[in-house]
Amino acid sequence: MNDNVPVVNSWNEWDPLREVVVGSATGACFEPTEPGNRPQRRGSASGTPFPTGPKPSEATEKADEELAGLAALLQSQGVTVHRPAPMNFGQRLETPTFSVENQYCATCPRDVMITIGNEIIEAPMSRRARYFEYQAYRDIVYRYWNADDRVRWTTAPKPSMSDAMYRSDFWDWPIEQRHARMHSSEFCVTQDEVVFDAADMSRFGRDIMVQESMTTNRAGIRWLKRHLEPHGFRIHPVHFPLDYFPSHIDCTFVPLRPGLVLTNPDRPIESSEAKMFLDNDWELVDAPPPVLSNDEMPQYCQSSKWLSMNVFSISPEKVVVEQRETPLQDMLDRLGFEVYTVPFRNVFEFGGSLHCATWDIHREGTREDYFPTLTQSLPV
Ligand code: NVA
Repeated sequence: MNDNVPVVNSWNEWDPLREVVVGSATGACFEPTEPGNRPQRRGSASGTPFPTGPKPSEATEKADEELAGLAALLQSQGVTVHRPAPMNFGQRLETPTFSVENQYCATCPRDVMITIGNEIIEAPMSRRARYFEYQAYRDIVYRYWNADDRVRWTTAPKPSMSDAMYRSDFWDWPIEQRHARMHSSEFCVTQDEVVFDAADMSRFGRDIMVQESMTTNRAGIRWLKRHLEPHGFRIHPVHFPLDYFPSHIDCTFVPLRPGLVLTNPDRPIESSEAKMFLDNDWELVDAPPPVLSNDEMPQYCQSSKWLSMNVFSISPEKVVVEQRETPLQDMLDRLGFEVYTVPFRNVFEFGGSLHCATWDIHREGTREDYFPTLTQSLPV
């Protein structure tokens, strides 16, 4: 690695990958019902109670096998891969402001950890069961922090996660009410405390998109603005008005290389927010229909069929796609990408797919400005 570049260095979602963390399903528990989350079974079992406690070892072993397959693919591409430390996710949490029966897992580092240039940020998180998830990555963070004085490390303010932080009736709102209230950004978390999950962010060099969602509120976006803009970044809140349950941007708006974003045809970006992309000659290309319908997703998976577009870039030319998503593979092939595939459906019930299950720590490249019209419009 180039000694002039800090050991932590990742400015966007696509530059050539050198170091990454791949999540683990070991010790995972079912996500508990809590004010920030109401997990539901899918398909014919929908409506029956969601299980609690540790996931069966058969499920965690199958997911771990697929995660190991992703790690091996990345290693074969010359990427250094790190894995989270084991944690006791079955442990009940009792804090001064909340309690929860069990925790979740460390399968999706993307949700909690983010690299912004030479800085690692630990997100506050929005759900009780994920409050301590950052601990699975602390050994890794310390290794980088000790190795290079240029590495910045920030842990964002932890919210109370008390009952008052949530709208407890959110999950019962009829769809009309949800539609009416989401346009004033009323979701399950209130605006009183700083709340964000790292996976609501998407990095484009100097510009960072942050989705306002069930897992990221306006106070969270304000915190990110105040923290990052003095260091030369621009934070852009983004919205996808047809997504009634927005959470994590990486099944909705997925940049693949400079000038190209993979978009979700069911969830177009707010038209005023598309402008900066169109003004700067970015193409927004809709993903093809996923192979599975929402009802066909694995029984305990809480994500939508659009996990199909949760792809992971090895470089601006190489992208990893889930093995059975052939329509998307074909489209990316036509767009000039070298497409790599791994089976990953057994990971879905642990919170996501390929992008979710990774946290890139080092990519080649520097901070670039992909939106020059924004710079030109700054006062001189
Ligand atoms: N909430 C998103 C998943 C993001 C990984 C979806 O279900 O589409």
